[in-house]
Amino acid sequence: MGADKKKIAVVGATGRAGHHVVDILKSQGYDVAEIARSNGVDVITGEGLSDALAGVEVIVDAATGPSADQEAATEFFTTAAKNLQEYGERAGAERIVTVSIIGMDRSKGGYGAAKMAHERVTQSGPLQAHILRAAQFHEFVPQLIDWGRQGDVSYVPEMRTQLVAARSVAEAVADLAISPQASASGGPISEVAGPREERLVEVAKLLAARRGDPARVEERSDPDNPDREIYEGGGLLPGPNAILAGPTFEEWLEEAY
Ligand SMILES: NC(=O)c1ccc[n+]([C@@H]2O[C@H](COP(=O)([O-])OP(=O)(O)OC[C@H]3O[C@@H](n4cnc5c(N)ncnc54)[C@H](OP(=O)(O)O)[C@@H]3O)[C@@H](O)[C@H]2O)c1
Repeated sequence: MGADKKKIAVVGATGRAGHHVVDILKSQGYDVAEIARSNGVDVITGEGLSDALAGVEVIVDAATGPSADQEAATEFFTTAAKNLQEYGERAGAERIVTVSIIGMDRSKGGYGAAKMAHERVTQSGPLQAHILRAAQFHEFVPQLIDWGRQGDVSYVPEMRTQLVAARSVAEAVADLAISPQASASGGPISEVAGPREERLVEVAKLLAARRGDPARVEERSDPDNPDREIYEGGGLLPGPNAILAGPTFEEWLEEAY
């Protein structure tokens, strides 16, 4: 590591976005603290956290808990954010960059409300916070197909989304972690999304066909989803100042499968 390069902690270091952030930062010569339970560090219980944050200037929060249920996810995200602010301050860290989701500031409940609680706690601590709101990841589509399986059909939510590769999100996160100017220039919240709007059901069908998945993919409007109107009405799409980055879903599919 060069003497001028700061130490950066990546929380969720083994995750869809987090492992790319680790890879990008390491390839640029940064010293990276890789935080995940599988690496012996738990951001909820605090196990190993003080040691892992020693000497860190910037923290990236790209962790997610095990549940998408509003109450459980709120508990996870708010505890993680509070711990990162407190342990981070004690370790002498200056900034935190946290990954959130585009459109969830209009959420009426569910996972979106948990993400808003995540943002609020992150922004109320002593460390300077930047929130990067991302569109749904290309890598999230397989999970959505699996969640919706019922017999030989997979029901995916009706959704307009500008899907983005986790690698492209990670590049934006790494830029924000490396450069305080990048964090400051667009204000405390910015957005990253893919190159074009997609309909979830269409990309899910492409993925199923590519994988030889026998499931028939159908879209379904979920009356129990408090954010149904946001999903269906374009509320998940990026604003005019978002960073837009390829690959498209089809290009990603060619590479990934
Ligand atoms: N997926 C999407 O489409 C999407 C879209 C927009 C924004 N986001 C946001 O992006 C962020 C990352 O999402 P992702 O899909 O990349 O997550 P993910 O693949 O589910 O990865 C979660 C990471 O968190 C770690 N983790 C879980 N519990 C932990 C704990 N108690 N202590 C320390 N680490 C813990 C996991 O490692 P261990 O299991 O080893 O602990 C793993 O590295 C989240 O904030 C999410 O809301 C996701």
